[in-house]
Amino acid sequence: MRIVLVGPPGAGKGTQAKIIAGRLAIPAISTGDIFRANVGAGTPLGLEAKGYMDKGLLVPDSITIGMVRDRLADPDVAGGFLLDGFPRNVAQAEELESILVGLGTKLDVVLELVVDNDEVVKRIAGRRLCRNDSTHIFHVDFQQPKVPGVCDVCGGELYQRDDDKEETVRERLAVYERETAPIVGFYAEHGLLSTIDAMGSLDEVTERALAALADR
Ligand code: AP5
Ligand code: MG
Repeated sequence: MRIVLVGPPGAGKGTQAKIIAGRLAIPAISTGDIFRANVGAGTPLGLEAKGYMDKGLLVPDSITIGMVRDRLADPDVAGGFLLDGFPRNVAQAEELESILVGLGTKLDVVLELVVDNDEVVKRIAGRRLCRNDSTHIFHVDFQQPKVPGVCDVCGGELYQRDDDKEETVRERLAVYERETAPIVGFYAEHGLLSTIDAMGSLDEVTERALAALADR
């Protein structure tokens, strides 16, 4: 399956992406994780992206789209993929369509995760990520590591994302409403949208997501 996950910051996209992609045996591709890996490694891409990420703004399309085009050309993506955090505006959605046409394929479904703003604030405030791999996601209350501050998967140090500061989160939510929310309508018009309630426990959300995908 070729899946896009869309939803506001803190909706649980990264958390569910890892679980769903694991169940379906397809790669999960997160543009945020690719940027964070580049920031961590101090690459020129990371240095450029960090300036935007720290302000809660989108990294320019001129950088992001080429990065995704390259990733979607990798052989492991041929049997399907789950995109988390891309596309993030209508221009990216249109570009994704043309990249996939070029590869002789198309999306099967866009899964929208709906959560209210109070829940987003709680999820982001307690989120901790592993320094070694930002797909290892924890929460101080809702998804506790066995040892506080230590990743269960690899023993790495857990940290709080630089862009999870309150004022940056506010900006990211505003950017979501202004730039990303319009892609929900775009995909509804294309008949690709499935929307699920992403409130509730991790397992409940996974069940709803898998049921929505099975309906496609
Ligand atoms: P990105 O990394 O994509 O961040 P985001 O969209 O703001 O989303 P988050 O990663 O904050 O939240 P999530 O939905 O993944 O939630 P999570 O699963 O972690 O992007 C970061 C930046 O990179 C952007 O601001 C931009 O600068 C740049 N960027 C990325 N893509 C781009 C693009 N396409 N174009 C331009 N720029 C781009 O869960 C959150 C917390 O909640 C965790 O602690 C988790 O344990 C917990 N949790 C999850 N589910 C539940 C549940 N059901 N109940 C309780 N707790 C839960
Ligand atoms: Mg994420």
